[in-house]
Amino acid sequence: EKDGYDHYMLKEIAEQPRAYRDTMLGRIDGDSHGIVLPELQLAPEQIRQIQHIHMVACGTAYHAALVGKAVIERLTRIPVEIDVASEYRYRQPIIREHTLVIAVSQSGETADTLAAMREAKLSGAHILAITNVVGSSVAREADDVLFTWAGPEIAVASTKAYTSQLIVIYMLALYLSQCLNTLDAVTRTEMLAMMERLPVQIEEMLEDTRRVQRIAGELAECGNLFFIGRGLDYMVALEASLKLKEISYIHSEAYPAGELKHGSLALIEEGTPVIALATQEALLEKTISNIKEVKARGAYVIGVALEGNMDMAKTADEVIYVPRTHPLLTPAVSVIPLQLLAYYAALARGNDVDKPRNLAKSVTVE
Ligand code: M6R
Repeated sequence: EKDGYDHYMLKEIAEQPRAYRDTMLGRIDGDSHGIVLPELQLAPEQIRQIQHIHMVACGTAYHAALVGKAVIERLTRIPVEIDVASEYRYRQPIIREHTLVIAVSQSGETADTLAAMREAKLSGAHILAITNVVGSSVAREADDVLFTWAGPEIAVASTKAYTSQLIVIYMLALYLSQCLNTLDAVTRTEMLAMMERLPVQIEEMLEDTRRVQRIAGELAECGNLFFIGRGLDYMVALEASLKLKEISYIHSEAYPAGELKHGSLALIEEGTPVIALATQEALLEKTISNIKEVKARGAYVIGVALEGNMDMAKTADEVIYVPRTHPLLTPAVSVIPLQLLAYYAALARGNDVDKPRNLAKSVTVE
């Protein structure tokens, strides 16, 4: 059942190109160069009335939703609030007549996400769920469902579910922007073409993972490390940090690159590993200067950058390159080597990769 892989996690990482294809299947219309979501109950007229969006989720799904907030706001200009589900349910969120609530959950059974959804439903919001499991509680209770079609995810550490959530979120943001007319057709066509290329780009990336394996072996010895990034890179940093903690038990923290100097820079000493994501060209110069700040304090910097990025090659001690794509789509490529990094670091430490201590695949209690 593991198809010859040592662990479900590795199998599920390798399945991502297939998962991307399945998630996009039938949802990109080549003739109109647009997104079609026939399963959506929400009509275009209702979409045009949406004033606010709330997103709720836990853990890795929350990290996918963070990317969702950024992308939906960028493409639609609708303000998006986002909360960890366990916080949302108790903070008396302001739900108005035209608030859309989007719940993201791989399993569709996470207690806090369900409770947040129910709370929002009581206030009259329209609930759109993004989930992987057909027939799950989240799927049944939502007004609308977009399935991620990643296939069953067995490993406790979520990988293909996260990336297929990203794909659904991109398609949803594009669909909303079509209804609202907030994105020009050229940019949309360009984004769609780049989305369709992702599976092949990831297949190529997965062909040779030796560099990531080597770096993971080196990191396996350390007790503490940092991830830094700006914008979408910060959101991927949060996910990469969670993945590493969850299975390798190495303590790590993710920071917006510009925030470190407001306190945590004090923790950087000779040899502290810092994984610096810099896939956002518009923010590159700023991130490079943050890398110089940590290097000056002795950090050992592993950069994650777009292929051909010479600035990173000159600044970091090691660079993991990822394929070039549309700036909003980079999380769908940059997270992959970082999933592998967590996997190989956990393996090197002799941990039970698929069943990390203290954790359950689906958290059905509060
Ligand atoms: O099934 P869900 O997507 O609702 O689960 C949410 C989190 O419990 C889950 O993503 C968790 O953070 C993962 N173990 C992370 O790898």
